[in-house]
Amino acid sequence: MPASRRGSGSVTLLTGQTIAIHTRTQDEEDLPHATKKTMADHLRKYESLFTLTPQRMRMIVEAFTETLELGLNKPNQIVPMIPTFVFGWPTGQEKGDFLALDLGGTNLRVCLVTLQGEGKFEITQTKYRLTEDQKQDDGQKLFDFCAECLNTFVETNMGEGEGQLKPGQCLPLGFTFSYPCSQERIDHGELIRWTKGFGAGNTEGRDVAAMFKKSLEKFQLPIQLTALINDTTGTLIASHYVNPRTKIAVIFGTGCNAAYMEHVKDVPKIENLGIDPAAEMAINCEWGAFDSFEHEHLPRTKYDTIVDDTSNKPGEQAFEKLISGRYLGEILRLVLCELIDEGVLFLGQNTYKLERPYIFDTAFLSLMESDPTDELLMVIGIFTHFFALETTLAERQFFRALAKLIGRRAARLSACGIAAIVSKMGYLEEGCSVGADGSLYNKYPGFADRVHEGLQDIFGDKGRNIITHHAEDGSGVGSAIIAAMTKNRKDAGLYLHV
Ligand code: GLC
Repeated sequence: MPASRRGSGSVTLLTGQTIAIHTRTQDEEDLPHATKKTMADHLRKYESLFTLTPQRMRMIVEAFTETLELGLNKPNQIVPMIPTFVFGWPTGQEKGDFLALDLGGTNLRVCLVTLQGEGKFEITQTKYRLTEDQKQDDGQKLFDFCAECLNTFVETNMGEGEGQLKPGQCLPLGFTFSYPCSQERIDHGELIRWTKGFGAGNTEGRDVAAMFKKSLEKFQLPIQLTALINDTTGTLIASHYVNPRTKIAVIFGTGCNAAYMEHVKDVPKIENLGIDPAAEMAINCEWGAFDSFEHEHLPRTKYDTIVDDTSNKPGEQAFEKLISGRYLGEILRLVLCELIDEGVLFLGQNTYKLERPYIFDTAFLSLMESDPTDELLMVIGIFTHFFALETTLAERQFFRALAKLIGRRAARLSACGIAAIVSKMGYLEEGCSVGADGSLYNKYPGFADRVHEGLQDIFGDKGRNIITHHAEDGSGVGSAIIAAMTKNRKDAGLYLHV
């Protein structure tokens, strides 16, 4: 970047993409534009729409806690509180080679995980990008693609040399399928509904583990599906493997969800299964569905309503739609489009590029928030490069402030979810660690700080006892550990519910 910050330069985005930057000294005069005062007035309006007071947060926590209880008491609730059949914590001594397949949102990942005991592991992995068509096409085809990727991975990494499979050897596989599935045992899972924009046909209501096994058979792979897990459950177990203070796991990525360890005696809806009431089992909350359909508790703006109405699943995942990476960029884009329609922004410029739904990536919000320059060069770069739009400094400051409001609201709502689990489980006094993962948590500047600040707004000083930390890779390593735990249970003759 030129030292004077005048003229042109380039900036490399986190994604590796390089964008051109142009700074102008007289931008206020080039085009018709909103004045600084107008932008400040607009900002005040959005501030009141997107800001959550501590009092409002406490009300949300109360409703959230009741919802969690309801999901544990009765089957088929909106927040389903899914028993995962992952019993208790890992010992840290789980060992061996395991495959993990991770179907989560944007990518498909295949991993070979070698658990070495004492909380140590090694991982080899390959990522495959999913196309939009694959997400919407027939479900069996999607699983066939997963099996095909697994086949390529095994041929490449275990076909010959050191890692070569021995004749007759069969590798246990943990399948991380990060969508709500109701489970009767650990290698079973009926898809309740697709989330995160997926919509593959002939899958909802069916056992995805059985569907995937069918795809595996086509390739005659020496692999046995041992466990079907959710990314949050994997994160919970993987984080505990390396940090035993972890009691809760949260994903802030394309979707948003949490898992925690529950006492079987406190899950009345599975009383009939005859599991030892003293046992512990991980619960996949699927809290993204909180306040779905009824919309009674969460503060939704009209932009949130538009995001919901135009989604492939209107009414569903109400909490997730205010928080997760899939939606934040779209919320900001909708505010900008409103101001374009009102004749406030980009007068005399062609705004067609910005008018395409979901074109404003959530990564742009984090880039705008982390722009270190007074002139907001990064913001200039985003708008000129991706949307062919000229901006004034006042506008750029407004965009950045708006990103902050939307990002902050997401973090504070997330704090409400965490607080609900903490209250329900009585973790506040003793404190606990929350393993967190996902692009928003890992890449959005200040996200974790805002969650912590939110927890203090809810609980006062004691909120400091609840600390989030970057989690271990739950979908890869966690999946392998759960496959190992399941295998150990089987070897120990605990067939029931394995
Ligand atoms: C969505 C899915 C959930 C997953 C979360 C994070 O909320 O329904 O299963 O854990 O995204 O990936």
